[in-house]
Amino acid sequence: MLDAFGRNIHYLRISVTDLCNYRCRYCMGEDGVAKCAHADVMPFEEIAAIAAAAARLGVDKIRLTGGEPLVRRGIVSLCRMLRQVPGVRELTMTTNGSLLPQFADGLKAAGVDRLNISLDTLDAERFRRITRGGNLEDVLRGIEAAARAGFTQTKLNVVLLDGFNADEIPAFAALTKEKPLSVRFIERMPIGDAAGWEPERYLAADAVLRAVPELEPIGTDGVARLYRVPGYSGTVGLIPPMSRKFCAACDRVRLTADGKLKPCLHSATEIPLRGLTGDALETALRDAIWAKPASHTMDAAHPSDAVRNMFEIGG
Ligand code: 5AD
Ligand code: SF4
Repeated sequence: MLDAFGRNIHYLRISVTDLCNYRCRYCMGEDGVAKCAHADVMPFEEIAAIAAAAARLGVDKIRLTGGEPLVRRGIVSLCRMLRQVPGVRELTMTTNGSLLPQFADGLKAAGVDRLNISLDTLDAERFRRITRGGNLEDVLRGIEAAARAGFTQTKLNVVLLDGFNADEIPAFAALTKEKPLSVRFIERMPIGDAAGWEPERYLAADAVLRAVPELEPIGTDGVARLYRVPGYSGTVGLIPPMSRKFCAACDRVRLTADGKLKPCLHSATEIPLRGLTGDALETALRDAIWAKPASHTMDAAHPSDAVRNMFEIGG
């Protein structure tokens, strides 16, 4: 459906858990996860009912996020349920990839269409540091498992961090030479408990174009600006929420694991949906989409207005 600013909102991101097996420094504060109470986590039936109501209002694309969606017990059966919701054309997932060796086949069989895998460095020691203890090998095996399971058009999401992975931009771009991957560089956003973490690490996405001057623009994909090194099979994307706000093209709303609809990632507004069914649920969704703000007000000096952490919203 159209929002108050004429944007077509057709994309719902669903955070299925606020738990994660990693603790990325730009995502979580020192104390790690706040964890919503077990009873607050929506059962699959409620998630599916909200997805169905959203689909009746025109949502045709659903992405599952976390925390880490693969740590939610029974995740494959939730995927199967969502795949059967009338009107859902596309079901995707954003994962840190570490559990894909175990889950890739099941996700494929359940009808998940595509995967986004988060990976900020190709160096094992750096990976351990940024995730506070993660094992790079697990993610690399996860990427392979996804390909073996038949997933194509997989995207790798890299959060750009100055003095951490800026020197790896060419290596990430080189991954697109043989493999039809899309490597997407995302600007780090100051949000939640990690908002104040080493602000000097922010790096505007244009740095990618300076680091890989061969990149040629080939269009856009949602909020990403796409580039390709001529002759390479994959693409490089830039996602610049800070340096080039893309709110005017925003097409999504978000659902938290405890059943709050967030019209905007960076707004404090949350509409509780739990307990609503039928017309009441549809009306609440409609009102929420109508309440979507025109844009965020975040910049280097002013962190996100969201009252949540990234691991509670799912990016
Ligand atoms: N800024 C930008 N991206 C972030 N992510 C998590 N926290 C931030 C942040 N502060 C990314 C993850 C993952 C996606 C879900 O969001 O790395 O790729
Ligand atoms: Fe977990 Fe993703 Fe946050 Fe890292 S960025 S701690 S993998 S939710």
